[in-house]
Amino acid sequence: MRIAVAGATGNIGALTVTALERDGHDVVRISRSLGVDLVTGDGLDDALTGVEAVVDATNSTSSDRTEAVTFFATATANLLAAEQRAGVRHHVLLSIVGIHAIEGNAHYAGKREQERLVGQGPVPWTIVPATQFHDFAEMVAGWTERDGVATIAPLLVQPIAPADVAGILAEVATGAPQGRHVDVAGPATQDLVDMARRTHQARGRSVTLVPTWSSVFGPTMAGNVLLPGEGARIAPTTFEDWLAERR
Ligand SMILES: NC(=O)c1ccc[n+]([C@@H]2O[C@H](COP(=O)([O-])OP(=O)(O)OC[C@H]3O[C@@H](n4cnc5c(N)ncnc54)[C@H](OP(=O)(O)O)[C@@H]3O)[C@@H](O)[C@H]2O)c1
Repeated sequence: MRIAVAGATGNIGALTVTALERDGHDVVRISRSLGVDLVTGDGLDDALTGVEAVVDATNSTSSDRTEAVTFFATATANLLAAEQRAGVRHHVLLSIVGIHAIEGNAHYAGKREQERLVGQGPVPWTIVPATQFHDFAEMVAGWTERDGVATIAPLLVQPIAPADVAGILAEVATGAPQGRHVDVAGPATQDLVDMARRTHQARGRSVTLVPTWSSVFGPTMAGNVLLPGEGARIAPTTFEDWLAERR
């Protein structure tokens, strides 16, 4: 099959390209650095020529609510319109578990708008809600790290390996549209502070972690809100397995 991956140079996008090519598919890579911009639409129609399915693994790193919502709304609307013109038969969106239960997070507001547009859009779809990735704790600690000290919320998560997410997206993209897919998650619950500490140790870095609900994530993200729902699909790679590869 000819399948386009939007966000092909990113964490999950690159691994999805690898998974699809391993299975013999013809993959079109979409990202700004590769000359295709979902926000302006530049290069999009050419990129989708002959494409049967699209995986959207793009991302916005903005912490401003208006910016995040505008990015996901514009990029998704442009992508879906171009897919309709090209006759794409399946749009696969990578989303996040728990976003409908948490207000006040700019990124989640953007993802909700993205899901809404896909669900009401012209192209048959599958939305795949995933839990946080195994590298999430390190990334979040990195946002606030100054002079060897970082603040981080003690979120309860059930993280999943990036390669497992990519494998699921590749499998979904080559099948029929499913609507909302069950949540996908890793095999065990973890505390985000502990995950960050163990990742820093594995990388030989010394960072003092200060647990708090007053920094990037607030108390609306406490409790079980980020955990997968009933009947979730559990991917095999443990956080420990993933960490062992980082040492
Ligand atoms: N981190 C987590 O724990 C987690 C958990 C569940 C779901 N998710 C979701 O997973 C998705 C992918 O995350 P990720 O960490 O893999 O992303 P990432 O590494 O930040 O990669 C983002 C990709 O999007 C591309 N991109 C950004 N703006 C673009 C534009 N205007 N046009 C075309 N391409 C554009 C980037 O390439 P260029 O810069 O070259 O354009 C890059 O390839 C996100 O939507 C996120 O919400 C994340």
